[in-house]
Amino acid sequence: MANILIIDDEPGIRQTLASILEDEKYRVFTAEDALAGIEILGREDIDLIFLDVLLPKLGGIEALERIRREWPRIETAVISGHANVDMAVRAVKLGAFDFLEKPLSLDKVLTICRNALILRKLREENQALKRNNSPADEIIGTSAGINRVKALIKQAAASDARILITGENGTGKEMAARAIHRGSSRADRAFVELNCAAIPDTLIESELFGHEKGAFTDAASTRKGRFEMAHGGTLFLDEIGDMSLQAQSKVLRAIQEQKIERLGGEKTICTDVRIVAATNKDLEGECAAGRFRQDLYFRLNVIPIRIPPLRERPEDAPLLLFHFLKTLGLENADFDQEALGVLAAHDWPGNVRELRNLAERIAVMHRGGPVDGGTVADLLQKNPEAFGGPKNPESAGPARPGNSAPPAPFPEILDLNYTHARESFEKRYLEFQLSKNHGIISRTAEAIGMYPSNLHAKLRKYHITIPNGKEER
Ligand SMILES: Nc1ncnc2c1ncn2[C@@H]1O[C@H](COP(=O)(O)OP(=O)(O)OP(=O)(O)O)[C@@H](O)[C@H]1O
Ligand SMILES: [Mg+2]
Repeated sequence: MANILIIDDEPGIRQTLASILEDEKYRVFTAEDALAGIEILGREDIDLIFLDVLLPKLGGIEALERIRREWPRIETAVISGHANVDMAVRAVKLGAFDFLEKPLSLDKVLTICRNALILRKLREENQALKRNNSPADEIIGTSAGINRVKALIKQAAASDARILITGENGTGKEMAARAIHRGSSRADRAFVELNCAAIPDTLIESELFGHEKGAFTDAASTRKGRFEMAHGGTLFLDEIGDMSLQAQSKVLRAIQEQKIERLGGEKTICTDVRIVAATNKDLEGECAAGRFRQDLYFRLNVIPIRIPPLRERPEDAPLLLFHFLKTLGLENADFDQEALGVLAAHDWPGNVRELRNLAERIAVMHRGGPVDGGTVADLLQKNPEAFGGPKNPESAGPARPGNSAPPAPFPEILDLNYTHARESFEKRYLEFQLSKNHGIISRTAEAIGMYPSNLHAKLRKYHITIPNGKEER
């Protein structure tokens, strides 16, 4: 049974369509304008929308744009009068699935429903297949440490037990969480993620449990929370160690009772959700310090999976490096002895993410021939903050001694507005590149991938004078 939403301001059309569809055993929702329709989209799992192109308040085309943006997986068929078929054509260009003209034809309505739902199912299957076979999902490594992780994932995925993944920044915690979901019986249902560190305390409950319209000042419409969105699937609570004590107690209750209430709502909603949590913090230590609820910790930590840092499994580093280079199109990258030595001696404070960033930089810089030790050392040392460092000082946790927040690049431009910050960066970048290329415009343009005429224009814009006035002819 599919859920269909009809948005049309004519009561007659709503009634006719609804009765046709209800006869076919579809579950039907109706709205007389786009805003009311959007509210329903926030609260129900809609599969297909019939949308009138001429609507009061928010017009049909604007509504369609918003729907495509916020609910890209829902198919929309537009309804138009004879006089505004051109609008319907525009709607189809914007991603509407099909259109039908008033007066409505029963056959056409039913064909649209059938086709839209088949299309949607095919798309979902296709995505699931892609997800399952994507080489980007393969957990690379042959060390004993990573093999243990892979075996645990395989074992744990089959059950419905809660899993707590721990490990330093960039070790692959999120990757493991996704692998658990893919390996589970919930694989074709949703994998919903919430990064607890990225959401302010005041918003986290509404993110987790959703809210009813008017529950608080900014709650303009009803919204589902992550628990509800993950119904039947997996909820990944990332950086759980950063969740406030208040939110922790609510999560504990949701887990114990397997039901939730939206903020400002009366209704109790049952949820069937498998929870996978991850953190780079030492949760036992956090419990001892009174920052994490012990009872929640026990609930989450049914199956613990610790992902070892890369320095505990150095043999995985070259495999990972070649894997990333290959995905970047550098199949046969070669490293000289010195480069291999530099790689072997590095202890990867940013773990696999640092390694992946290194691969990206090598791919950008590579001009053929073996990569030498100097280049690798430069890339690793010059810009350590661009690699592994913690993303923010609070979430860095106790993972690595002496790990302080990385210095921000160009701190002085961070307080400027976007346009000024961009211009300030652009000017300094061009001055740097010019002097590096001895003031030769054609060479600079080639090195940075810009047309010389564009470069000339930029130099004029920023009043940059060429150091020695050299220009190749
Ligand atoms: N064993 C692996 N094989 C292939 N790719 C990996 C592996 N481990 C990590 N990656 C890749 O490294 C990057 C970082 O991994 P991920 O985001 O899962 O780490 P994380 O532990 O969640 O990091 P953070 O603590 O910073 O959130 C991702 O691009 C991921 O695909
Ligand atoms: Mg992560």
